[in-house]
Amino acid sequence: MSVHISAKKEEIAKTVLQPGDPLRAKFIADHYLTDAKLVSTTRNIFYYTGLYKGQEITVGASGMGVPSIGIYSYELYTEYEVENIVRIGTCGAYTPELKLFDILNVENAASESTYAKFAWEIDEEIISNQGNLFDVISHTAKELSLKTIPTNIHTSDIFYRKSAEVPQIATKYSCLAVEMEAFALFANAQFLGKNAATILTVSDIIPTREQISADERERALRTMMELALESALR
Ligand code: HPA
Repeated sequence: MSVHISAKKEEIAKTVLQPGDPLRAKFIADHYLTDAKLVSTTRNIFYYTGLYKGQEITVGASGMGVPSIGIYSYELYTEYEVENIVRIGTCGAYTPELKLFDILNVENAASESTYAKFAWEIDEEIISNQGNLFDVISHTAKELSLKTIPTNIHTSDIFYRKSAEVPQIATKYSCLAVEMEAFALFANAQFLGKNAATILTVSDIIPTREQISADERERALRTMMELALESALR
């Protein structure tokens, strides 16, 4: 058990897929895993461990935002000796060059967040994915004939804001999209010497206000989930 996860140590696999939403973790467990066991329900942040094509894997939520994924990924890496975390989430595109349902494989996350600096004395405002998961995801996507777009993204603490302009840091580092977690995940993994990747599906195009509708969401997210699961086998 850790402070925020009630699973026993042996109940968490070495590879964890981490959506933001606990119900998405449940969806993956229900639709893709065999022998899935619910191993933690603390704060309704569900963790399930089961088998995907015979390999043990855990799916569990990060919650929303840097503080939340900072806590869950740290406890997974340190208390449960997890080696690989793949965040699977949605993002808002800053540019209409990206389309709804595009899948991004994140190269670097740039952020105004002070998380990395004050947690780990990492002074950079941009942190790369960690280890070889990015490459594994890229190769797996090719094998599955799925297009993924390698790119930098902006990890922001802000979902609602006054200005419609693209934030400075996103322009500075050519970030095509925004989400709220990858920077903290990469910072933890960098500090701890672990592996971390982030796959994102574009759920909204900020300048045009296009959005994936509620009933399109499942189909959209399934492709990303399947890519993450297949990557976990490799
Ligand atoms: N902002 C931040 N995170 C997001 C967004 C957004 O517009 N869309 C999906 N995740």
